[in-house]
Amino acid sequence: MKKLLCLLLAGALAFSVAACGNGAQDSEAAEAADTSDTAETGEAEDAAEETAEEDGQNILIAYFSWSGNTEALAGMIQSETGGELFEIEPAEPYTEDYDALLDQAQQEQQENARPELAAQVENWDSYDVVFVGYPNWWSDAPMAVLSFLEFYDCTGKVIVPFNTSGGGGFGNSLASIEESAAGAEILEGFTVAGDNVSGAQADVSEWISGLGLELAQ
Ligand SMILES: Cc1cc2nc3c(=O)[nH]c(=O)nc-3n(C[C@H](O)[C@H](O)[C@H](O)COP(=O)(O)O)c2cc1C
Repeated sequence: MKKLLCLLLAGALAFSVAACGNGAQDSEAAEAADTSDTAETGEAEDAAEETAEEDGQNILIAYFSWSGNTEALAGMIQSETGGELFEIEPAEPYTEDYDALLDQAQQEQQENARPELAAQVENWDSYDVVFVGYPNWWSDAPMAVLSFLEFYDCTGKVIVPFNTSGGGGFGNSLASIEESAAGAEILEGFTVAGDNVSGAQADVSEWISGLGLELAQ
């Protein structure tokens, strides 16, 4: 009886070892198939990443400029990044008279106005990064710039502010930009005095290098 039990046990053990052996082979085969799948997926991902690196992020450089300083700075950013330029213009242009403009800008700010804009960006959704440039007006952004940001869905966009001023830098404008560009990630901005824009290319280049953007190669 003992002998029979031993034989039965030995048989059961041999069967389970054989089953295990097959299982191991099966899982090896499955792993090999998996590895080749992963290798193929990995290669496809590498290729997509390389293309993205070559193409870089899609960049828009939107700016408002009344007397040309911010526009010149936008041009420098364009030459560093290869982005698309877009001028933010109110549907009703601001006065050309400087003193009248001071009053108009102040009144708009007091009313927290959102002037209507003359044109829209085509393919807003296609841009990953939006540089937004403006002069310091009464320590804030011109209200037309806030109209611009609030017109679009900024969720998931990277917004990069830039600014020219008479010496006051960004003033309080960054808080306004952050509020109007709800849902966006705001990167470190760049500000320069209007009189110093023409000598700012090297600083612009250094600032952009430090932003960690994926620029087209
Ligand atoms: C209506 C108005 C308000 C301004 N307010 C300020 C200010 O509060 N602080 C400052 O530093 N510069 C101020 N400036 C100067 C401009 O920010 C500066 O000249 C800027 O470079 C102009 O840019 P733009 O040529 O692109 O219009 C003001 C200019 C204007 C027209």
